[in-house]
Amino acid sequence: MLRRLHHDQPESFAFTPANMEWAEAQISKYPAGRQASAIIPLLWRAQEQEGWLTRPAIEHVADMLGMAHIRALEVATFYFMFQLQPVGTVAHVQICGTTSCMICGAGELMEVCKAKIAAKPHEVSADGKFSWEEVECLGACSNAPMAQIGKDYYEDLTGEKLAEILDTMAAGNVPTPGPQNGRFGAEPLGGPVVLTEGAGEGERLNASVALATEIGDTIKRIDGTEVPLRAPWRDRSDEKGDATPDTHAPKLSGGAPADETGIDKREAPVKSAAAVKSEPAATEGRKPETLAAPLEGGADNLKMIKGVGPKLEALLHSLGFFHFAQIGSWTEEELAWVDANLEGFKGRASRDAWVAQARTLAEGGETEFSARVEKGEVYDDD
Ligand code: FES
Repeated sequence: MLRRLHHDQPESFAFTPANMEWAEAQISKYPAGRQASAIIPLLWRAQEQEGWLTRPAIEHVADMLGMAHIRALEVATFYFMFQLQPVGTVAHVQICGTTSCMICGAGELMEVCKAKIAAKPHEVSADGKFSWEEVECLGACSNAPMAQIGKDYYEDLTGEKLAEILDTMAAGNVPTPGPQNGRFGAEPLGGPVVLTEGAGEGERLNASVALATEIGDTIKRIDGTEVPLRAPWRDRSDEKGDATPDTHAPKLSGGAPADETGIDKREAPVKSAAAVKSEPAATEGRKPETLAAPLEGGADNLKMIKGVGPKLEALLHSLGFFHFAQIGSWTEEELAWVDANLEGFKGRASRDAWVAQARTLAEGGETEFSARVEKGEVYDDD
């Protein structure tokens, strides 16, 4: 299958603060020099956040991991779990079209998708709720034909059953995933001939179906409100306001390849311990108060601050800063923390005197630069 980036791409991508924290914890699982190993979970989280994987998201993740963009693109375009074009807001349906499923009726399932969703795969339905595609074997051949929808498998399907499932989802309800013909798992259609004790009394659903049913979720995307990823190996002292450097925190790269071959900085020869020790700590200063989302009324236009373009504004949002008043209240110590955490733009906050500018803007005043922005005289770039 030809997998290409979508022709219509957003301008930028930034993880939400909750997802950023999750991503940093993921990266910290890997030893120094091997942060690129976090590529798949980070791309997946970016997709869960946006619904599909945009080019800015792929490049953003590559930058976080110090990888050449082409390497992240190679991963994103290889695995069909990554959606390279917009998908339905309710669900993207993946119909297995490999041998067992095709023999057992996958063609009928695809006809249902064409009739109820869109004539062609990867097209979003007229109401925007669904999209579909044919995929290769999903490893549930004993329960053919089947489809993956959201997090779950729907097995032993018929066209009629699939249509019912789609209607249930469209109505905002949660259908029961798993085998749709009364089977518990992948036992023979005529019933088990070994392990005949089977499930315990009252256990009607296999474990994964029971879990989906219990949590009432089969298609909801991860949105950062889940139980946070536990990373007890990380030094969390920075969160307590302690200025002790977080020696286990991932040191995110600016994203520039180490050389013209595209090899990334993480794969470059490991520095001597002495050289590493002399590097400035990534978490100096004190972390200011942050917000999970803008206050009522929406975020301020942080691009009114000289030195803040779209990329830096997105970065500030991802760090939890949305308002002039927040930036205007930073102390020297907090400014140092922000300067050290502006990946790719370190030192920019103090260099361009953001705090003084933000104070003026928070009080309803204007700066020479903000006046030029208002008049549309300023370029819109970092
Ligand atoms: S052939 Fe469809 S799951 Fe294997």
